[in-house]
Amino acid sequence: MGEVAEIRLGDKTIELPVVVGSEGEHAIDISKLRAQTGYITLDPGYANSGSCESAITFINGEEGILRYRGIPIEQLADKASFLEVAYLLIYGTLPKREELEGFTESIRRHTMLHVDFTKVFTALPKDAHPMAACSATVGAMATFYPDSLDPRDPSQVEVSIHRLIAKLPTLAARAYKHSVGQPSMYPKNELNYVGNFLHMMFGNPCEEYEVDAVISKALDLLFILHADHEQNCSTSTMRLVGSSMVNLFGAVSAAINALWGPLHGGANQAVIEMLAEIRDEGMTGRQFVERAKTKDDTSRLMGFGHRVYKNFDPRAKIIKKACFDVLNQLGVHSQMLEIAVELEEIALKDEYFVERKLYPNVDFYSGVIYNAIGTPSNMFTALFAIGRLPGWIAQWRELHQDPTFKIGRPRQVYTGPTETSFVPIDKR
Ligand code: ACO
Repeated sequence: MGEVAEIRLGDKTIELPVVVGSEGEHAIDISKLRAQTGYITLDPGYANSGSCESAITFINGEEGILRYRGIPIEQLADKASFLEVAYLLIYGTLPKREELEGFTESIRRHTMLHVDFTKVFTALPKDAHPMAACSATVGAMATFYPDSLDPRDPSQVEVSIHRLIAKLPTLAARAYKHSVGQPSMYPKNELNYVGNFLHMMFGNPCEEYEVDAVISKALDLLFILHADHEQNCSTSTMRLVGSSMVNLFGAVSAAINALWGPLHGGANQAVIEMLAEIRDEGMTGRQFVERAKTKDDTSRLMGFGHRVYKNFDPRAKIIKKACFDVLNQLGVHSQMLEIAVELEEIALKDEYFVERKLYPNVDFYSGVIYNAIGTPSNMFTALFAIGRLPGWIAQWRELHQDPTFKIGRPRQVYTGPTETSFVPIDKR
């Protein structure tokens, strides 16, 4: 028998098995605790609770390690393409050449939207946030593609995976075009995944759009770095919603909304708005950092801090370097980048941030790149969603293939009134 944990409740002692992961992570299995003792555990924000066993992504927050299917993020960032990484996450292994070609070709062939999506977009207000538009239109995919809704049918799941990866960039670009009043662009299937997205975002029917190789490479890299991050807020949403046996479109639509929040993926938009505020109000970096430390002020130093990384976020290191490279290659001078560097330098030496182990996260520098390549700030989180989609899908798939599959349903400790009699309305 392996290691066990003992828990003493009154005069009763219970043994709980210890589960050990492949990287030596230890977890106490409490799945029988309530049945054996009547007790549950309480862990607000789930900071100490594992919700599943997973073979997809490994993070060591103390050492700043991130690996997809065992492969370090640094190697993937350097050598792989986004669709290759998507395949790796979803199917578990790096694709052979013909597998990657088949996957890429299928994605390429599914980029177009059902023609009636025009009506869906027309119904959305012009100033709809692209994340709301993406969530709504991904949800609407379930109405347009009723032939791929059954999560128990592997061939239907496969079709919906390809549809989602192919169509989310088309939907996101269309949401943007709708918001600026420009005609939407059809996908151009001779372009690669990222090039096609750039063409739909920045092209227009009046002139030929040429994909810039530097921009395309930078965006592909950002998508890779965002592709999965184990049980974060939106991925846990994906699993929880998916556990109800809803179709894949419904679960992705929910995950997009979870990602939108400023404490999660929405931080990339919040960072650039913070940098713009510092620039426009003529504040110094020091003044802003002091403000972010004040408890009675709601503004945090956005793009700093992480639930898991307590040393550094390896994605932030790669993005910071890419940021300098891309701006340099594009010949862009960015005041935003200068402010970001200044903020980082101040915060990394400041006792408040040092004590709390707050480091730049993935969102701190990504917005500076998005900004430099001409992306409006309200689109930043939609780009994050395109990158994260393969991870959500991989996690959803793993959940459904898990022999211990169960609907996700946490318990609570009730703290409301004990039994109270109903009072008729004229006696209250
Ligand atoms: N600026 C100032 N103070 C901060 C920051 C920050 N960015 N982040 C955390 N703190 C402080 C908190 O006020 C708290 O201080 P206290 O102990 O004195 O009360 C302490 O650090 C711990 O913070 P928590 O919020 O408890 O840490 P948690 O792990 O729950 O939150 C989170 C992590 C949400 C990312 C947080 O650091 C944050 O709000 N950061 C800014 C938003 C952001 O960049 N989000 C993107 C994260 S990456 C992603 O999701 C893709």
